[in-house]
Amino acid sequence: MKNNKWFDKAPDRRGTGSYKWDSASDPDVIPLWVADMDFKTAPAVDEALMKRVEHGIFGYTLVGEAYYDALKGWFRSRHGYDIDTKNVIYTSGVVPAISAIIKALTKPGEGVIVQTPVYNCFFSSIRNNGCRLEDAPLSRVNLEGGQFTYKMDYEALERAAAKEDVKLMLLCNPHNPAGRAWTREELAKVAEICRRNNVTVVSDEIHCELTMPGYEYVPYGTVDTSSIVCLSPSKAFNTAGLQIANIVCPNSEIRARVDKAININEVCDVNPFGPVALIASYSEEGKEWLDALREYLSENYTMLFDLFHKELPECPVTKLEATYLPWIDVTSLHLNSTEIEEEILKEAKVWVNCGDMYGTDGYIRINIACPRERLAEGLRRVIKWIKEHRSVE
Ligand SMILES: Cc1ncc(COP(=O)(O)O)c(C=O)c1O
Repeated sequence: MKNNKWFDKAPDRRGTGSYKWDSASDPDVIPLWVADMDFKTAPAVDEALMKRVEHGIFGYTLVGEAYYDALKGWFRSRHGYDIDTKNVIYTSGVVPAISAIIKALTKPGEGVIVQTPVYNCFFSSIRNNGCRLEDAPLSRVNLEGGQFTYKMDYEALERAAAKEDVKLMLLCNPHNPAGRAWTREELAKVAEICRRNNVTVVSDEIHCELTMPGYEYVPYGTVDTSSIVCLSPSKAFNTAGLQIANIVCPNSEIRARVDKAININEVCDVNPFGPVALIASYSEEGKEWLDALREYLSENYTMLFDLFHKELPECPVTKLEATYLPWIDVTSLHLNSTEIEEEILKEAKVWVNCGDMYGTDGYIRINIACPRERLAEGLRRVIKWIKEHRSVE
């Protein structure tokens, strides 16, 4: 049974202090950029938060047993990932987690591996800790039928990992914006290369719940127990502003160093709503809503793909295995993607993300997590704009 009632209509977000919506002053702009969703969170999360608000006291927060039970129960039953909760450090977000982990495990000047195109905050976290970005880019693979995908370039990864001063790899699993849900074989190969070269892998799994039908999220922690895994329900349940995330780190010596860095960076405290939202998300009711969301997102993706394939076959789209962030090749426009973002915003009144933000020019990223009607209008405008500019050489 379809539960589009949760997703076909969405409250107006303008004037709510929304980064995604209130950054554009023009009220006609459709924002399909920042990675949050225009849907209300799951009813179970909403209700739990309202109950907490009714209490009326919002002092310093302790994360209790129910929190760890919810985390452990969810990952074991849904993903076959057995988390020993004594290995968990909670913090105020995945980006704060990554930044603290880099601080804990590197010295300024050392290299940190990423696989571009990749989530832009990886770049800033590396830079802000005085480290050097060591790119082992993904390889693009063209598929039949107007899609493309990415695979890991193990030789590039091997070359990067072998460098004397490279200590850490930031893995994005599933990958934003490549749309890949990495397979167990691919992850095992990463683990093997990094282990052999004494590189610790930090796996950012914030998109792990958002797999498309037929694709599975493989927790990196089930492949490599010497790794550090970062988790949060925030992408899947649309609660990024509540700032709650978990670091799973089985190695006690590394965990102590990460814990210290979390304290030094002053990101060891969370607000009272984050744990409440997490517990309600990782529940039976949360599961029902999440599965309906995944179905809706998959239909939104199909709509986007069909439109691009029919109207703009020269602009291939990634095969989306996970996330709600399809990545589209607009190299045929022969324009810099920052210019494309600016022009589409100004002329078509749709805000998309430019590819160079993720380290690869010539692409745009479109957030499809909004009511289908709104997405259809946004895509109509983007496609019209591209058609009008495609003669540019
Ligand atoms: C791969 C990835 N990691 C982390 C984040 C943000 O994490 P947080 O809001 O918990 O800091 C995002 C947001 O888009 C993301 O795509």
